Amino acid sequence: MRPLISAILLASASLAVAANTDKAFVRARHTQNARDVRARSPKQYTLVDHYSAQHFMNESHWSYFTSADPTGGQTKYLSHADASKAGLAYVQNGQAILAVDSKNDLPLGAERDSVRITSTKAYNGGLFIADFAAMAHGCAVWPAYWTVGEHWPNGGEIDIIESVNLHVMNQYTLHTGPGSDCVLVKNTPTTSASSSALYTGTVMDTECKSSEGSNAGCSFLDPRNTSFGHGFNMAGGGVFAHLWDDAGVKMWYFERQSVPQDIHNGQPDPSSWPTPVAFWSSLGCDFASHLHNHHLVINTALGGGWASSDYPNSGCPGTLSDQITKGKNFVYAKWMINYIAVYK
Ligand SMILES: *[C@@H]1O[C@H](CO)[C@@H](O)[C@H](O)[C@H]1NC(C)=O
Ligand SMILES: *[C@@H]1O[C@H](CO)[C@@H](O)[C@H](O)[C@H]1NC(C)=O
Repeated sequence: MRPLISAILLASASLAVAANTDKAFVRARHTQNARDVRARSPKQYTLVDHYSAQHFMNESHWSYFTSADPTGGQTKYLSHADASKAGLAYVQNGQAILAVDSKNDLPLGAERDSVRITSTKAYNGGLFIADFAAMAHGCAVWPAYWTVGEHWPNGGEIDIIESVNLHVMNQYTLHTGPGSDCVLVKNTPTTSASSSALYTGTVMDTECKSSEGSNAGCSFLDPRNTSFGHGFNMAGGGVFAHLWDDAGVKMWYFERQSVPQDIHNGQPDPSSWPTPVAFWSSLGCDFASHLHNHHLVINTALGGGWASSDYPNSGCPGTLSDQITKGKNFVYAKWMINYIAVYK
């Protein structure tokens, strides 16, 4: 194009006009290129924290919660010293193992030993990448990997991994405080089947606000049967990533064989990833202003709210209380964590 334009301009006999036009043309082209490069170049994420196996055993980084089970189950959360002594928190083959007692039988109604850990550091956004080789699961088991602010539910809650009993499809949930007016914005019929879909998961609830008697949160179900529990572990585990920024909160689950190379390289680029499985768009409320100072939490509860309401129709044997009495029922109630990395 340029030689042709130059030839025409040269032929016009006005060299001044030619020079100016040519410069303007070149300038415009450079500006255009600069814009294209900016639009295509990914946002750079820089590593803020990298929690590897031994960090989960270090109370400067992760504290061990020892209060009564807040979900009303039969869980006794142990201190780090006690969990370590009981063989429920340790490092093996470069993985942090967080387990439930599977050795002891207990009387009916007794609490079973487990662990719940909380990052000492709090976050106000970022890109979080969690690689699990396995997650705790089983009948009467309610495992979760989640983040939560202070003074629940006012600081909000983000549930990245959560379900109960024999489910193999993961549920992703956001909770905001009672004063908020937050909703999950759904795909429209035109976006849902196209590449402009906001998310690929199945919407379960659209009301995010948690209040007395109504705290289900707004949630998605992952349609993949490798996203939770036995299905996840049989597939060799995988990576859960979530991005919390001004656009809202997006989540991805990558099966082991489809973890993007940029994650392996430590230079994650969410703009190159497929459509997230869950997305709470800031069109549904300014989520950023309803989520504050979130600590990361990993825990395994036994029984309690959701596990017990689901139990009768779960395909699990007998009653939940009977299930909890037998140690051998909990051999798979064990998290195996490769790492959690946080980027900004
Ligand atoms: C625990 O973490 C702190 C802070 O990073 C570090 O100074 C300390 O050496 C760690 N402790 C152990 C036992 O690794
Ligand atoms: C998941 O679904 C596939 C295909 O329907 C099936 O073969 C497999 O057994 C299921 N896995 C689990 C853990 O349910």
